[in-house]
Amino acid sequence: MSMFHPRGPTFRELGRQALSSTEHGYDLLAPKFDYTPFRTPDAVVTATLALLADDPPYTVLDLCCGTGAGLRGLLEVARGPVVGLDLSRGMLAEAARQLKSEPQAARIRLVRAEVLEPPFCESFDAATCFGAFGHILARDEPRFIASIHRLLKPGGQFVFPTMIRPPFWSPGVWLARGFNLMMRLRNLLPGPPFIMYYLTFMLPRVQVQLERQGFEVEVVDSPLPRPFHSLKLVRARKT
Ligand SMILES: C[S@@+](CC[C@H](N)C(=O)[O-])C[C@H]1O[C@@H](n2cnc3c(N)ncnc32)[C@H](O)[C@@H]1O
Repeated sequence: MSMFHPRGPTFRELGRQALSSTEHGYDLLAPKFDYTPFRTPDAVVTATLALLADDPPYTVLDLCCGTGAGLRGLLEVARGPVVGLDLSRGMLAEAARQLKSEPQAARIRLVRAEVLEPPFCESFDAATCFGAFGHILARDEPRFIASIHRLLKPGGQFVFPTMIRPPFWSPGVWLARGFNLMMRLRNLLPGPPFIMYYLTFMLPRVQVQLERQGFEVEVVDSPLPRPFHSLKLVRARKT
């Protein structure tokens, strides 16, 4: 039975993906990824990239770019190179296949790398990250933020959508905790882990973490209707 969409992955395929590593799981999911709710909707990308409009970047990097949800929008916002970084060869191949017909495709570069070790130093005017914070363990968040600080030029901006941590009594929190518990149990199995946890990189904690590492942070309410009305859009500028 297909999940989410007739052309989406089946329950069995999702199970198989979750039982392999994060990298290989996404390699397997890549051809069907765009038929899942895990792909960031265009409206969310557009609203987030609008934060860059008053200081348009020349060169930009989309972290964990997947099949390219953020890259298309970035082609319009940036004037120079648009780089997508991801660990999964399958997702990068899918991004390349989908984006090759874009009129400005020559400006796109896809790089296979671990997001905690991006091979760049003061290279970008802006960085983005959509729908991928769940793949970064809470203990790795300071390292993640430090890498973004390093890869941005002075004055560079990191923009992303996130949420305010919901109160502990909200049903969503308990669902997310249930999922996280399942993933923790799954990751007790021998072999490489599949890292995906909910309730990560949320406000207000993430603002404190960003400021601690030398970013000036601005948080904007989502201009989008339901179900995206409660998102918060964050702009963190490297001071
Ligand atoms: C849910 S998808 C989001 C893709 C895209 N940004 C979007 O919003 O549609 C998460 C992506 O993060 C990538 N990823 C997960 N862990 C990673 C890591 N440690 N380093 C680099 N990429 C990673 C996966 O391969 C996948 O393409």
